[in-house]
Amino acid sequence: MNGKKFTQFLLEWNKALNNRPMPWKGEKDPYKVWLSEVILQQTRVEQGWAYYEKFVKQYKDIKALAKASDEAVFKLWEGLGYYSRCKNLLFTARTVAEKYNGVFPASYEEIVQLKGIGPYTASAIASFCFNLPYAVIDGNVFRILARVFGIDTPIDSTAGKKQFKELAEQLLDREQPGIYNQAIMDFGATVCKPALPLCSSCHLNSICAAFKNATVSNLPVKEKT
Ligand code: ADE
Repeated sequence: MNGKKFTQFLLEWNKALNNRPMPWKGEKDPYKVWLSEVILQQTRVEQGWAYYEKFVKQYKDIKALAKASDEAVFKLWEGLGYYSRCKNLLFTARTVAEKYNGVFPASYEEIVQLKGIGPYTASAIASFCFNLPYAVIDGNVFRILARVFGIDTPIDSTAGKKQFKELAEQLLDREQPGIYNQAIMDFGATVCKPALPLCSSCHLNSICAAFKNATVSNLPVKEKT
């Protein structure tokens, strides 16, 4: 296991080769980051993009969103589906407006308690906006780590979840957790893809166990199919 190399190579790739413009990238305003992350919970980037822009144009900050009517916000959400996200979005906007005076809370513990925000979204907000050392962990991260480190523990097993979480936390760059988190998301979406990953041109292929052992298409392993 060479965690240091992984982090270094991922950040190098990010600086030199990551070319994935998105309107929320580098954003530090927790309102905008939260909004983008909620949209992206169940929606692809290509589809979510226009919704994100509509929302930030219509509602400049969380106080404005909190004051909007349910009908107006649901109307703007139309087409995205999974309406519980929209309900929770409004609920949380109003919670932040009332309980926190319109200022988004700045600790992971407070953020993760807000409705509609799980560990992934809370880690994204905490790292992007407040530079806090929380690693995002999702299917992309499982896939990348399973391949690079050659881990065949099923990602949906109790042991696997623990193992991948511990590894993900070790690998996080603690100086720039936000840049690292966005980089691993982008790397999973554009290089270390589920199907047809770009291994032959991958910046990490010299340290990738699955590339070396020709097991890329067998990883990650799932217990249940
Ligand atoms: N999926 C979830 N969060 C994301 C982000 N910040 N950028 C791209 N895809 C994402």
